[in-house]
Amino acid sequence: MAYVLVTGGTGFIGSHTVVELIKAGRDVLIVDSLINSKKTVLDQIKKITGVKPKFIKADLVDENAVTRIFTDNEIDSVIHFAGLKAVGESVKIPLMYYQNNLISTLNILNNMLAHGVDKLVFSSSATVYGDPASVPIREDFPLSATNPYGRTKLMIEQILSDMAKAIPHVRFSVLRYFNPIGAHESGHLGEDPRGIPNNLVPYVARVAAGILPQVNVFGNDYKTHDGTGVRDYIHVVDLARAHLAALKRLDETNETIERFNIGTGKGYSVLDVIHAYEKAAGVKIPYVITERRSGDIDACYADPTKAKEILHWEAEYDLDRMCRDSVRFLEMYPEGIPEDASF
Ligand code: NAD
Ligand code: WQD
Repeated sequence: MAYVLVTGGTGFIGSHTVVELIKAGRDVLIVDSLINSKKTVLDQIKKITGVKPKFIKADLVDENAVTRIFTDNEIDSVIHFAGLKAVGESVKIPLMYYQNNLISTLNILNNMLAHGVDKLVFSSSATVYGDPASVPIREDFPLSATNPYGRTKLMIEQILSDMAKAIPHVRFSVLRYFNPIGAHESGHLGEDPRGIPNNLVPYVARVAAGILPQVNVFGNDYKTHDGTGVRDYIHVVDLARAHLAALKRLDETNETIERFNIGTGKGYSVLDVIHAYEKAAGVKIPYVITERRSGDIDACYADPTKAKEILHWEAEYDLDRMCRDSVRFLEMYPEGIPEDASF
């Protein structure tokens, strides 16, 4: 059977998706530069599935490397996770974000056309809705971006839309993720950011584990039920499964491009998350209210109806489960997944 090419497959969402693909009997080829992940994630995937997926270390910005991947391997479809994703860093080093996220995508698209590969699932983000006029957010809401990272996602969505209009045989599924958190229930895979985390839940997790002293809650004067920012947190395994549903849909549909919100439809505040995590970890989590973080919005949560109706997918796991799985991962790997395969 031909491969599902998973770019960024050793990353947080990619690795969980690879597990689900292997469980569904698919042959997976991972390509990753390891700029934000570790090769030992492949051993973690094997611990869970019994299968170590084929892996090629390559930077997808390198056109020759991407051409070689498509020439040397029979590829059925692509799930394109690879990209840089830190919003703050993208403001400081915009060119690196445009170069990495756009050029890698263009290289993949060019090679898909050249090698007759016509199915792609793309990792977009709720960030493409900017500061939405209302919640819950539907797919037909206006799009905008407030930072270079978000603009790379918008630009790629636009490129895919233009290609879908021009080329009748392509099939693109654009998945707009809300806030993925949690970990695999085995504890062997989870979010393993390098350095001090930017996102709420990895930060809270490190405070709960005693690695960081306290959570900084960025503002309590938002227009939400307790004044702290509200987001749609989704379990990474639910999110992973949405990709399998999207691949299935690509085999069945005549639509050249479809866009889906991948969220639970429920919004939780920063304080709700801290309290859920306290319950899961069985510890008190100290926090202080600080200034708002620039660019943050009051509330962002999905209307996931379209994914339910068309992909026949919906999120199963609640916030407590997300926190419990996250706690388990950090208990098993307090220092993150080791870099060295001899652990
Ligand atoms: P991640 O950083 O864990 O995974 C991304 C992977 O891509 C990493 O393993 C990294 O090494 C790899 N990569 C980056 N640039 C590459 C390149 N040029 N060539 C080859 N590999 C490269 O991030 P994630 O959280 O798993 O996110 C996956 C995708 O989902 C990204 O496109 C991200 O923008 C998008 N997304 C993430 C979130 C989130 O909150 N995690 C939300 C919405 C969308
Ligand atoms: C969540 C809430 C913060 C950290 C980001 C990207 C988005 C998407 C997902 C990729 C907010 C508050 C956070 C902390 C806090 N990524 N917070 N203290 O900002 O919703 O989304 O990740 O596409 O594009 O922008 O997620 O986890 O950073 O923040 O109070 O130390 O937690 O203000 O209300 P965000 P987050």
